[in-house]
Amino acid sequence: MISHRARGAASAGVTAHRFAGLRLVVPRGVYAPRSDTAFLADSLPAVTGAEVLELCSGSGALALKAAARGAARVLAVDCSARAVAAARVNARLNRLGHVEVRRGDLLDALRPQERFDVIVANPPYLPAEVDDDPRWDAGADGRGVLDRIVAGAPARLRPGGRLALVQSGFAGVEKTVSALRRAGLDVAAPVERRGPLGPIAQARRAHLERRGVLARGATEEVMAVVVATRPAAGRSAAA
Ligand SMILES: C[S@@+](CC[C@H](N)C(=O)[O-])C[C@H]1O[C@@H](n2cnc3c(N)ncnc32)[C@H](O)[C@@H]1O
Repeated sequence: MISHRARGAASAGVTAHRFAGLRLVVPRGVYAPRSDTAFLADSLPAVTGAEVLELCSGSGALALKAAARGAARVLAVDCSARAVAAARVNARLNRLGHVEVRRGDLLDALRPQERFDVIVANPPYLPAEVDDDPRWDAGADGRGVLDRIVAGAPARLRPGGRLALVQSGFAGVEKTVSALRRAGLDVAAPVERRGPLGPIAQARRAHLERRGVLARGATEEVMAVVVATRPAAGRSAAA
């Protein structure tokens, strides 16, 4: 569970948080773990002995969770210099020395030969009229970052490897599932959770209604975790 515990440092623009047994510091402008982070953490595939990549790592919450759960090596990637600095501090704070944090643009941050057993991502996925904040804005349909992950991640998985990502229903869960199937992955039925509209979605109600993804007067949003597996060598995805 997440507990947000702003301490004295809040006045300096840094807040202290507890997330799934981890201690995290989160500077202003860096995404603090929320219900979507916790939802994905609850649904993480087994990581013992695995090489894990977290895309869009923010404070590093999910990367550190994977490291604490026994991953052999974890790489966290984020485009924000502040997020990268925070994740590095948080790895030290939790004595998780086998977490590397790299600044970069999604999969472009990887070396040509790098492959992973597990890739996780809580990307920005909110439809935005104008992209203002890379923590949550992802183009008019909310798929700007999701589509790039879905297009590039399958080739970075080892045979038998898994991709797990969380997104809002506003960005089209079925589009994610279909694209991953087209890429040759086995995709499990998405796990869904319904909850109250968050403050940003509330503020975007007009845009979401115009796009036809939020019914007039609706007060809830569906979140989904999608898990897809690259078939083991010599096997193709189930139809
Ligand atoms: C919703 S936050 C998730 C943070 C963290 N994983 C969590 O769940 O608490 C999305 C993160 O994606 C990062 N991001 C957005 N676009 C990116 C890109 N093109 N490449 C790498 N990171 C990106 C943002 O800086 C932000 O930290």
